[in-house]
Amino acid sequence: MADIMIAPSILSADFAAMGEAVKNLEKWNADWVHCDVMDGEFVPNITFGMPMVEALRRNTSLFLDVHLMIVKPERYVERFVKAGADLVTFHPEASDDAFATIEMIKSAGAKAGIVLNPDVPCSVAEKFIDKVDLVMLMGVFPGFGGQKFIPEVMEKISVLKAMTDGKNVLAELDGGVTLENAPEMVRRGLDVMVAGNAVFKASDPARAIMCLKSGITSL
Ligand code: DX5
Ligand code: ZN
Repeated sequence: MADIMIAPSILSADFAAMGEAVKNLEKWNADWVHCDVMDGEFVPNITFGMPMVEALRRNTSLFLDVHLMIVKPERYVERFVKAGADLVTFHPEASDDAFATIEMIKSAGAKAGIVLNPDVPCSVAEKFIDKVDLVMLMGVFPGFGGQKFIPEVMEKISVLKAMTDGKNVLAELDGGVTLENAPEMVRRGLDVMVAGNAVFKASDPARAIMCLKSGITSL
């Protein structure tokens, strides 16, 4: 089994020092950078758009994992890829044509993934599984960092991993990851773990990333 990859969410970083945040993530051995794009409509919060992704791209060579929490993502996916996104994920219910949106992302040259909210069953991913590079499970209802993990989502990791077995599709989880619940996610075979507060609010973020990867449950 490959080592779990950690994708710290810069939503929990200092917005006045994003260049520094991604440079730190390289030093701290993060694998990906998770970028939370919110439009104030699909979720009750507004964050940032393509200019931020483009600015991050200029400051890091880390893989940029762009999570779109926006209505009709098809309007913007190509511009996010042009800005430097390596992976674009979106919520299929927000799109008028999720299959076409996946194709747009891929033809623009990035990897494509869909995101399932906590109340969306894994069966929704079935029809997309041969088209996408990744499926991301939300561990919280999207909108804010630092929320508490919804425990029922843990079992969905195993259901999703059974679905992706033998396929070239990664399983990612976003929201509510802590040093305490991470080891069970790793045991269930998760490939990529997003961590916002667990990394950026830790007294020693580099050690927090190391602990998440190796199943150590306290700093
Ligand atoms: C939630 C975002 C998550 C969030 C994760 O709407 O999509 O990526 O920033 O933050 P933590 O790990 O603090 O729950
Ligand atoms: Zn996210």
